[in-house]
Amino acid sequence: MNSSLLSRFVTVFFAIALCEFSGLAQKSGPHNKTFSDSLKIEGLLKKMTIDEKVGQMSLFLSEESIITGPSQTKDSRDLIRAGKVGGIFNVHTVDNVRELQRIAVEESRLKIPLLFGLDVIHGYRTIFPIPLGQASSWDLEGIEKAERIAATEATADGIDWTFAPMVDLARDPRWGRVSEGAGEDTWLGCRIAAARVRGFQGRDLKDPRSLLACAKHFAAYGAALAGRDYNTVDMSTLSLYEWYLPTYDACVHAGVGSIMTSFNEINGTPSTSNKWLLTDILRKSWGFKGFVVTDFNAINELVPHGVAEDLKDAARLALNAGVDMDMQGSAYITSLPEILNQKKITIKQIDDAVRRILLVKIKMGLFDDPYRQCTHEREKKEIFTHDNLAFARKMVSESCVLLKNEKNILPITQTVKSIAVIGPLADSKQDMLGNWDATGRSEDCITLLAGVRGHVADNIVVEYKKGCNVSDNDTSGFRAAVKLASESDFVILALGEEGELSGEASSRTNIDLPGIQNEFARAILKIGKPTVVVLFNGRPLAISNLSSHAPAILETWFGGTQAGNGIADVLFGDYNPSGKLTMTFPRNVGQIPIFYNTKNTGRPFNQADSNEKYVSRYLDSPNTPLYPFGFGLSYTSFAYSNLIIGVLGKTIKVEVTITNSGNREGEEIAQLYVHQKVGSITRPLKELKGFQKVFLKKGEAKTLSFSLSKDDLAFFHPDLKKSFEPGEYLFFVGGNSVDTMQKAISLK
Ligand code: NOJ
Repeated sequence: MNSSLLSRFVTVFFAIALCEFSGLAQKSGPHNKTFSDSLKIEGLLKKMTIDEKVGQMSLFLSEESIITGPSQTKDSRDLIRAGKVGGIFNVHTVDNVRELQRIAVEESRLKIPLLFGLDVIHGYRTIFPIPLGQASSWDLEGIEKAERIAATEATADGIDWTFAPMVDLARDPRWGRVSEGAGEDTWLGCRIAAARVRGFQGRDLKDPRSLLACAKHFAAYGAALAGRDYNTVDMSTLSLYEWYLPTYDACVHAGVGSIMTSFNEINGTPSTSNKWLLTDILRKSWGFKGFVVTDFNAINELVPHGVAEDLKDAARLALNAGVDMDMQGSAYITSLPEILNQKKITIKQIDDAVRRILLVKIKMGLFDDPYRQCTHEREKKEIFTHDNLAFARKMVSESCVLLKNEKNILPITQTVKSIAVIGPLADSKQDMLGNWDATGRSEDCITLLAGVRGHVADNIVVEYKKGCNVSDNDTSGFRAAVKLASESDFVILALGEEGELSGEASSRTNIDLPGIQNEFARAILKIGKPTVVVLFNGRPLAISNLSSHAPAILETWFGGTQAGNGIADVLFGDYNPSGKLTMTFPRNVGQIPIFYNTKNTGRPFNQADSNEKYVSRYLDSPNTPLYPFGFGLSYTSFAYSNLIIGVLGKTIKVEVTITNSGNREGEEIAQLYVHQKVGSITRPLKELKGFQKVFLKKGEAKTLSFSLSKDDLAFFHPDLKKSFEPGEYLFFVGGNSVDTMQKAISLK
């Protein structure tokens, strides 16, 4: 065979191999197209120098970038010209993106387009409620649609790639990043994760409105010890498989194009150097076909982690583990060529990483149109539209969770003639955005005060006093606020956290209301006016004190651009609240980690025998939470009856009747939980296995039907294999994880 024939053969061989691993390709095109993509990649690889290859494996900030990490930005233009960059992140606007892309495709030797990434976490310019808030809606279609809107807006502005969804299961509200996830439940987390991937990526990555998703942070970032961000994770492999890994797997199943490594170590090995995680589990076991990017500087951080001697060693470990792209750290660009020369890594490892990155770029249509139709015209037409805002408003209402409503003081009725809107978060536009606001603008935000003012008839007086700040101890505003509250018919008291108190690097040890707010709340509540506390926060709060004094509490998270309007819709009853918590609210920090799907222990605490000493309990606090997982009230009430469980062939059928027993129409999120009474290993007391969001008119009843297979009841065993075990099972149905009806059935 002559050398050109040999090289053709090698190219075709790799092309076929690439077709094999290209699940992304198979999803979005006919086989011959996949083959031509692969030929293109092999053709490029043949032409690329080692620096250009490693360049594709490098993601950098540029001068114009939004800053989301510790490094300084620099002008990326010369690097792009030299073909030493695969992607740029946190740059936006059509002009900025087009200019950098123009340099790549017109002035670099091989004209390979760049990938532009940005953290589009809960909206792009139209900002939606924070992810934990959206999760409280349990509205999978709504969440998917919110991401579709985010993708449409972001791509119109030149963004190709978002670093979302964050699918880290979290059981510790001290960890500030709980705001970015879906909460504590694996089953629900998987469904929300998949909905978000579908929403971002659309049906075909080539669609100019599709945004490449990045599931993060792989893996178990949410289990940082003591809730301190970036901290060590130490957990059993069984827990990892059963609780923490499935949400990432769900993203892979939904076709996610990229995965981000996490900052943390797991049981001694940092994720970014963890071959077991990135290669054995992610690629070999789950069949992930996209590329793996690090979190910000995470390769460099292998040195302080103490597993790498220096940057070169760190780059070697990361490449060996299966990391394809280095975010901002320059570890790959500065080290891989040298350690390749020293034969510490192979060219095949580099080529494979480049293949995976180029394949995604091809699938996104970047080689056909590097600008992916981002134009000023699209920017004007598709960003921040009337429809987008209307949908954001609906998502705000759906995300609200009514925690308390004594004497049905909500909704606010027409008989109220004067309303005092009080509190440090009542008129704070910036805080409505929460953390990670992409290109959201505080000036666009409707605050609670503006929402209330916009809602009421002209004859109702709405007045505002701030009263205090969120986080300091200044009481000078108390008096005026108390006076206003005393003179008003109804008080809306806006309390909580600043937007920046949750999110990255925002862990707290005290998760009660910060600053002087509890004292302020007492001063206002003491007046005795009908008062609703409207909470703004990025995590479950330990608000036992507030909750025992306030007659009504509405959890609203950070609602984004339309926060005030969506909340006002709830307060005045245009929308009957239906949100349910996806994360337990503890009574106090000492109960953390607290989550609903716990085990019984050998010495369970029994309330009926509460003097028993040698049981699993606290001396100074109940075991139970303040508000449990799945909890949320409505302005109406729902009664559950006629729970029937049966087996039909391979299907377990659960039926229950729900009646709207209150005085107005409303939606209920009916939840199905399961418990296996005796297992080969201990099983949680309850596990969510289904839910339905059902709308019922006043007095209306509906029979809901759930179907499960035995696979739905399977779990991971110590050999890490998943299987169903026959035996006695309890099925529970109810409006939250505590108040349920139950029935036992024996399953073979
Ligand atoms: C660090 C964060 O952990 C990650 O979630 C984010 O996507 C990157 N910075 C980029 O901003």
